[in-house]
Order: sequence, then C-alpha cells, then structure tokens
Amino acid sequence: MIVPIGRKEYEKGKAIFDASARFEFIPVGSDEDEIAEFIRARDCRAVVLGVEPYRGALYESLPTGGMICRFGVGTDGVDPALSARHQLFVSNTPGVLDQSVAEHAIFLMGSLIRHITMLNEQVKRGEWLPRPAAELSDLTLAVIGLGGIGAKTARIAHQGFGMNVLAAQHGTLAKSAARLGMTEEEMVEGLGIHAWSEDADEILPQADVISLHLPVRPDTIGFFNRRRFALCKRGVLLVNTGRGRLVDESALAEALLNGQVGGAALDVFEHEPYQPGNVDLREFDQVIMTPHVASNTCASNRRMAQKVVDNLTYWADGHPEQAALVYQD
Ligand code: GLV
Repeated sequence: MIVPIGRKEYEKGKAIFDASARFEFIPVGSDEDEIAEFIRARDCRAVVLGVEPYRGALYESLPTGGMICRFGVGTDGVDPALSARHQLFVSNTPGVLDQSVAEHAIFLMGSLIRHITMLNEQVKRGEWLPRPAAELSDLTLAVIGLGGIGAKTARIAHQGFGMNVLAAQHGTLAKSAARLGMTEEEMVEGLGIHAWSEDADEILPQADVISLHLPVRPDTIGFFNRRRFALCKRGVLLVNTGRGRLVDESALAEALLNGQVGGAALDVFEHEPYQPGNVDLREFDQVIMTPHVASNTCASNRRMAQKVVDNLTYWADGHPEQAALVYQD
C-alpha cells in the first residue's frame, strides 16, 4: 500500500519506513494541494503528516475510513470537523517523545537561568562579562499541563535538580495519576508536586519558571496573554515546548520589555518558521529560540516512526481501535 508522508518526517524515520514490507512510504512536500493531488492520483487510503496545518483539500482526497497519521503527538494541524465529516481516522504517536521533549524543556530552562546563550555570544565577540546566576534547586517550577511530557519534565526538575514543582491540569490529581499509570503518592513524591490546581491562575503567582505543556484547543489558544503574564511573579521565566499558539507573542514582547517576564525560551512559535509581529522577539538577549526541535532526537524519531507503522498496521488489519486514535472534539 502506498502511503504519502511529509518529506521531513520520512527523513526522520527513513530506516524504519524503508524497512516496511507492507507500506511503501513515498515522501511528498508539505503543501496541502500537492498531497491531495498525490493521494487522488495514486488512490491512497492513508497519509502521514508533520506539524503543519491542513484545513482543506486533503480531507476530500482520502476515502471514507481512511487514516491520517500524525508523526508526533500534537494534532492541532488536523481539522477535527473535516476529518469527522469525511469519516477519517486520525492517529498520533503519544508517549514515545516525552523524554525527548522534557529534556529539551530542561535544557532551555537551564540555558535561561545560567544565561548560557548570551554568555556564549559575548565570549565569541571577545567580551568577558561574567555574571552570577541562580540555582535551579532554589526555584519553583510551574508545569502547566501534566500529561506525559509535563510529568517527565516535573520528574527531571524535581529528582535531578531538586526544584519545587507546582502543576496545573484539568481534572483531579487522582484522575491525572491514573492516566499516567501512577498512584497519587507516586505523583507527589516522584514528581515533587507540592501544589496542584485545576486552575493555572492559582499557581502562576508562585512560580519562578513556567514550562508549558498544554495541547492547543479553542480554550488554550493565547493562554499566555496580558492578563496571565500580569499574574506571574515579576521576572518570571517562560519555557514553551508545547505550541506557539499557546502564547500571545505580542503580549510576551510587551512583558519582556517592561520586565514582567525576565526571559523566555521558545521552541515553538505562532508562525513557523518564526515571523516577527510588531516586536521582533529575536532582538531580546533574554530570549532563546530553537526551531521546533524538542521531539527531534534520533531515538524519539525512531520510536515515532515505529508508532506510525504500528498505527497503520492496526488500521490496515481492520483494528483501527488498537491504533493510537485521536478522538477530536
Ligand atoms: C511535535 O511538536 C509534536 O506534535 O509531536
């Protein structure tokens, strides 16, 4: 069976995709019309997509019962209404990238706190300007969104660096613990969670560092807006490895300019590749930017590719319910 796949995603999992006897993965560009045309021309029933948004022709090109596989966990690029209207299955690769993203969040946090990127640039320019920094063990981390990635981030922050951790997540602590396959005690002790709230607004004022791990939904778009930045401690540090649309970039620029936010480390942006709005975030020394690479480790790419192949296999065998299906609302 021929399965078109985004070129970048194909390259990330090439060895696994090429080894499949069942599926012939053919790399295509990320342009929606180009993919739709390919699907129609080759009578494809499934497609593997990257992170880009797809809002039109793609859905009509697949037959009823077809499969959209996200290479990755975030499904904000897949339109829930259109996939439902065309009776398409949507799957993703949860769990297998948690370590990779959590490690990136921690390294971004460490780089911000120790001014690594700024010092690096200064030394290379011939400037020798040592300055003191804080220790992570003295700081409080708020993890906003305690799914698999948020939980891994909390665990590393707490067990590796002795950070005090607070978490915000919809639902009860018991429900989150069950979803993560832990007891409540394991969550509190293992992840070091000292305070928990369903309402992020309650924990934001106590945080020195915030790590965002929410999915994009209508109620989380622009989650970090002027009002929420104002709730935070002055000089708070923000790490975003979730999605760019969770942060209002103009509000962030304003908060950086007036000192309410002391620094931001961003792997994801409202528009990717990054495009500046009224204020260019690239101009701030205290802003670190990486090009949406948090999940992009060799090990995580291999695991995501394998999960894509597994999802497709379950679906092609007539057991789509065993694939990591996304039930979009
Ligand atoms: C990466 O951003 C993903 O959605 O997996």
